[in-house]
Amino acid sequence: MNDFFQTDIISIRDFNKEKLETVFSATDKIIQMNPNERRELARGKTLGYLFFEPSTRTRLSFQAAMASLGGTSLGIADASSSSTKKGESLADTVHIMSLYSDVLVLRHPLDGSSRFAAEISSKPLINGGSGTEEHPTQAIQDLFTIIREKKKIDGLKIGVAGDLKYGRTVYSLLYALSNYNVDVHLISPESLKIRSDSTYDIKKRLKYKESSSLEEHIDEFDVLYVTRIQKERFPDEEEYLKVKGSYTIGLDLVKKMKDDAIILHPLPRVDEISTDVDETKQAKYFKQAQYGKDTRAALLALILNENSF
Ligand code: NCD
Repeated sequence: MNDFFQTDIISIRDFNKEKLETVFSATDKIIQMNPNERRELARGKTLGYLFFEPSTRTRLSFQAAMASLGGTSLGIADASSSSTKKGESLADTVHIMSLYSDVLVLRHPLDGSSRFAAEISSKPLINGGSGTEEHPTQAIQDLFTIIREKKKIDGLKIGVAGDLKYGRTVYSLLYALSNYNVDVHLISPESLKIRSDSTYDIKKRLKYKESSSLEEHIDEFDVLYVTRIQKERFPDEEEYLKVKGSYTIGLDLVKKMKDDAIILHPLPRVDEISTDVDETKQAKYFKQAQYGKDTRAALLALILNENSF
C-alpha cells in the first residue's frame, strides 16, 4: 500500500524527504503516462472543492488534475453563493461535501481550518491554503519545479523575497526546504519579516539569513522565489500602503542574476515582477503553475489508489 492512500494532506511538516520524493517520482510518471492509462487513476471518483477565499491556480489545477485522471469535480468556488451565506457552519458544509465526494480540497482564511475540517470529513482532505499558515500543495509544486529546472535541491542558494509575514506559501516552502541542505536568504521589509512563532521548527533545521536588500545577493542566487504582498491580510490599510511596491523585479535586476538562475512566484503577481521579465530565460513561474497541475494529479492519484502506479 502506498503511504498516501486515503490520507489527509494538512501540513508540509508531515512530509519528510522520502515522502516528498514519492510525490515527485509519481509526478514524473504522471507526466510520462499515456492519457488513457492516466484516466484510469480516478475513474468514477469525485473531487469536492470548498474555497472560502479567491483562487485561480489552486482550484483550477486541482480540477484539471482530476479531469486528467478520469475523475470529476464539484464544489463551491465562492462562499457567498453557498449556504454559508445563510449561516451554515464550516463543519456542516464539510460534512455534506464528504457525502458527495471521494476527496476534498479546502481553502479557508483561518489558520487551523484544514485540520479542523479533516476531523469532520469522512473522506481525505487536502489543505488548499489555510490562513497565513500553510499551503502544502504549493510547496510540493515549488520543489518539483526546482528539481526539474535545476536537477537538484541540495547545495542551492535560494532567495525568498516579499511578504514573509503573511504569505502562507513561504512557510510551507521553508518547511519543505528544511529537508534539504540549502542556503536560504529571506528578503523583506522590516515589518514583513518571517513570524518568529512559526520559525521555531525552521530555525532548527534550515540555514537562513535575513535582510531587506534584494540587490545585495541577487548575483548569487540559484533560485529567487518572489511573493505578493498579501494586502487582504493586513490589519490596517495604512500598514499596507507603507510596504506596497517594496520590491519590483525588472530587467535591470534580472541582468544581475546568474545566467542559469530561476525566478519562481506562486502567483498571482501584482507588481513584484514586471511583465517584460516573463520573456527572460530565468522566468519559470508559468512553468511552475503548469507543474501545479501535474503534482496535484500525482497527489490525488496516490490518495485514491491503494497501490502505487
Ligand atoms: C497563493 C495563496 O493563495 O497563498 N496563491 C496560490 O495558491 N498560488 C499566493 C498568493 O495569494 O499570494
